[in-house]
Amino acid sequence: QHQVIFDTDPGIDDAMALFLLARHPSVRLRAITAAFGNASVETTARNALALAGFYGIEVPVAAGADSPLQADLRRDFPAHVHGDDALGGMFERLPATRQTLDPRPAHELICDMVNAEPGEITLLAVGPMTNLALALRHDPGIAAKVKQVVVMAGAFGTHGHGGNVTPVAEANVINDPEAADLVFTASWPVVIIGLDVTQETVMKHEYLAALRGKGQGAGDFLWEATRHYQDFYHERDGIGGIYSHDASAAAYLIEPTLFKLRSGPVRVVQDGIARGQTIQDHHKPTGAVTPWSACPAQQACIGVDAAGMLRLFAAAF
Ligand code: BDR
Ligand code: CA
Repeated sequence: QHQVIFDTDPGIDDAMALFLLARHPSVRLRAITAAFGNASVETTARNALALAGFYGIEVPVAAGADSPLQADLRRDFPAHVHGDDALGGMFERLPATRQTLDPRPAHELICDMVNAEPGEITLLAVGPMTNLALALRHDPGIAAKVKQVVVMAGAFGTHGHGGNVTPVAEANVINDPEAADLVFTASWPVVIIGLDVTQETVMKHEYLAALRGKGQGAGDFLWEATRHYQDFYHERDGIGGIYSHDASAAAYLIEPTLFKLRSGPVRVVQDGIARGQTIQDHHKPTGAVTPWSACPAQQACIGVDAAGMLRLFAAAF
């Protein structure tokens, strides 16, 4: 069983990933930590609490970063994609929960849990990586104690997919490029599930419709929550459905054989028009040239069995 801290900015696709994690027997969720991203951290933490209650998850939920490491560079929240409540207008339909937020900031909760169980904890991050970066800054020793880090982030330009915020930058990375670079260059094993594969896996209208009435209310909830989100993607890319962003990272954890990985140091462009671009030195995975040479090889995902991923997700319902 994977012992998982889920770091998230719910977020419609975050809510989908959390459902899969909550349902799959190979995952034991240990905590949920929220970050700004799809909305303010007040909103995403409130959503995380409510979703945990709805899915029957009983773990600590902590609020984290409200802005990137370079706070003055925070971008506007994408209400045009996820809605003002970041759940496609469905927050109010979630049952009230009596659970309150853990008193610790997210990065402290992460450090506490990792230090208490060295070698056991997997960090699964599907929002801006600010909480993870703050945890590394707070206690650099955790890098050696985390079992693995899996993130939904980035775009490496394979399969013709570029960025989704700029031609080269994916949302979770451009929301905090400095944090992403810290996470990718730290001495812990990172698997990066980016647009290269999440945009290869489309949940079509019919697929989402078939989940209605299933998952003890979750299928209906996610159907309603994805109505505007689906229109957004359809207008942009004509895909007749939605991309499987955050759920793909959860699926990787559960069934890694569905994914094809490529090894090499990964850096994030910090300045200029390519800010937020993720670049992997996969030609020289041993790292011959600075600023790559000192960086550990990480795994970028460049292929997916999309049908297998969609089967895995549907089975959770
Ligand atoms: C990522 O950005 C967020 O809006 C989504 O929740 C997902 O984590 C996709 O680029
Ligand atoms: Ca997310």
